[in-house]
Amino acid sequence: MYVPCWPGLKPSYFVGAPSQRGLPFPFSAPHKTYFYVARSGIYYLLRALGFQKGDTVLMPDYHSGVEVWAVRASGASVRYYHINRNMEPDLDELSRLCRSNPRAMYVIHYLGWPQPMKELMALCRERGMILIEDCALALGSEFDGEPLGSFGDYAIFCLYKTVPVPNGGLLIQNRNVLSALRNMELRRCDGTSVVGRCLELMLEWIRSQSEIVGNALFSAKRAAGRALTSIGVQRLPVGDISPEFQSAGYRVANLNVGMSPLCHWLLNRFDYELICQKRRQNYLLMREKLLGRIPLWDKELAKGVCPLFFPLLVPDKSVAARALWARGIAAVELWNYGYPEAKREEGPDARFFRDHLLELPIHQDMTPAQVDYVADQVLTLRLHF
Ligand SMILES: Cc1ncc(COP(=O)(O)O)c(C=O)c1O
Repeated sequence: MYVPCWPGLKPSYFVGAPSQRGLPFPFSAPHKTYFYVARSGIYYLLRALGFQKGDTVLMPDYHSGVEVWAVRASGASVRYYHINRNMEPDLDELSRLCRSNPRAMYVIHYLGWPQPMKELMALCRERGMILIEDCALALGSEFDGEPLGSFGDYAIFCLYKTVPVPNGGLLIQNRNVLSALRNMELRRCDGTSVVGRCLELMLEWIRSQSEIVGNALFSAKRAAGRALTSIGVQRLPVGDISPEFQSAGYRVANLNVGMSPLCHWLLNRFDYELICQKRRQNYLLMREKLLGRIPLWDKELAKGVCPLFFPLLVPDKSVAARALWARGIAAVELWNYGYPEAKREEGPDARFFRDHLLELPIHQDMTPAQVDYVADQVLTLRLHF
């Protein structure tokens, strides 16, 4: 059995009619800008706000690295606050840091779970700070009946993490709308990058239906990719947060690229309510299979939370990930590293997550049999603590 980590691009999306219901938030927000990737939205937001050296953004020590890179590339300064084992900030520490006159607070909703928005909004209001919500991992999640991304002054989404689009970052402006962001002239992304990523997403889906056919097609695609590289055809990647990419330095010149028109077309064709429902069902089924048998990071799946992955605590992430991949399960190692300068500020809980938290797929394409299979493999392989 093959279980991909991301949902695939199914043929039915291309033949189905667009949704008649109207798109939900964040797509329905009045002030929005679509980019090729989410980091572009972060960079251009801070540039439009006029951040420069000495203007501080409070950022969590548990992060992917690329969001911090985007903030630093804009010229802003960063101070780090700690994330605890509950994947939340320590509000006392954050409140102390707010007294040092930072201009903005940057909040990440991890794996779809909301941060305590009432308290964070109150802190920002008291101090006149800008609140930026990072919903890269939280498309479709709610807090207290309101969508994540609707609380902060600004919010950023990474669309291709939750739905099968080849690219797409979305910046929402809820308050203090900046016209510079509304009228941006973004470059059109090249067709090869879009077609290449679409093919990957389609092949992932085919491979989850038939491993033999999928593997053969993947080999052909890889050969075609190598041929294109050898004749110098460049592609713009999505979601690359690898350390090699970090040390090579992301390129600011690549940030002013917009989301591809195909993504707009596809975004109209997904059933967002159903996606959230399926992810919750799969999450709860996985939990039922594992609870009481292995130790879990067991944060309540409150109403409205749309989980991105099922978090699994393991002694050695790369050993566990390799063992699962060998059984056809595409486990994800989110965030083994952060932004290099943040390392000395990193707290023990962020370190713990980087070393021990592995993400298992529970996305909308997965069947109960696939969830069963993943849970069985986790237990059989004895990967847990
Ligand atoms: C929390 C968070 N914010 C922002 C980003 C940036 O997203 P993108 O890769 O689309 O630029 C990522 C990417 O992994 C992320 O995990």
